[in-house]
Amino acid sequence: MGLVRHKIKTGIMLLGLFVFSCMASADAGAESGVDFKAMVQQDIRDFQAYFKKRFSSVEFSEYKNGVYAIDTASREQWLEMEDFPPYEFAVDEGEELFTAPFTNGKTYTDCFANGGEGVRQNYPNFDSKKGEVITLELAINNCRQANGEKPLAYKKGPLAALSAYMASTSAGKTFAVAVPNEAAFQAYKDGKKFFYAKRGQLNFSCADCHMRVAGQKLRADITSPALGHPTGFPVYRSKWEEMGTLHRRYAGCNKNIRAKPLPAQGRAYRNLEYFQSVMSNGLEINGPSSRK
Ligand code: HEC
Repeated sequence: MGLVRHKIKTGIMLLGLFVFSCMASADAGAESGVDFKAMVQQDIRDFQAYFKKRFSSVEFSEYKNGVYAIDTASREQWLEMEDFPPYEFAVDEGEELFTAPFTNGKTYTDCFANGGEGVRQNYPNFDSKKGEVITLELAINNCRQANGEKPLAYKKGPLAALSAYMASTSAGKTFAVAVPNEAAFQAYKDGKKFFYAKRGQLNFSCADCHMRVAGQKLRADITSPALGHPTGFPVYRSKWEEMGTLHRRYAGCNKNIRAKPLPAQGRAYRNLEYFQSVMSNGLEINGPSSRK
């Protein structure tokens, strides 16, 4: 009896070890590149399914409209605001800047595919040579610097106007942000971690407010679903009385929970934007747009 029991025990232990080592090697497989594309696809499905379940009556395509996709009370007012879009001025300014030659005679059109028309949906992307995520705003400044011009400030002003103009030429195109290789997957994972990590004195994660309590009132505001966050940027925000980029908003959300805002276009926010954009794949570009 004792021997049989011992054998069964050993058997269970071995089975346990076997299962454990399989799990470990599955993980290692993912790390070494076997499965990262499948993991990203699964993340997208889970993320989008979460909102589908949460707001079952909201069409997928509506998530490009931020909080107005789910907040019927403020939607009317917003639609009225969009009738006379407060970002129109920025689009015009952006177009002028975009077509004006640099000191060396070249223009932004020389830096971008298709002369920079209708390319917003291809950002952010992963530059394998540089080993980093390139957002549209970073690409604009990289273009300036390649042509001997000073970089622009990242949160508002001329850069937001350029970004607004470029987004406007991409209206209706859909996000199809790829995670092409291992290095890109690392950046994606870094952004994902940032999104789910609790921080600040209030100890909130992005996911706490923009998934868990999305659609609920937080002080004066209803929080938007994280799905679709990047589609409408840059935005004209009434509270700012001007345009602002996505990273300006990120910094604002970090400050709200008394966490230290990170630099706009630093690696952390670019990776976060990368993650958020991948999650929003399939949604239309509709920037610039207006917000409360
Ligand atoms: C304490 C809750 C809270 C946390 C934590 C928080 N936000 Fe927000 N966020 C808000 C509120 C409230 C607004 C304004 C209403 C809305 O959601 O559009 C907002 C707005 C935004 C917007 C603008 C959406 C739009 O359509 O204009 C983005 C993008 C955003 N947050 C991203 C983030 C990210 C990324 C994080 C994590 C770094 C984060 N937020 C953390 C509460 C929060």
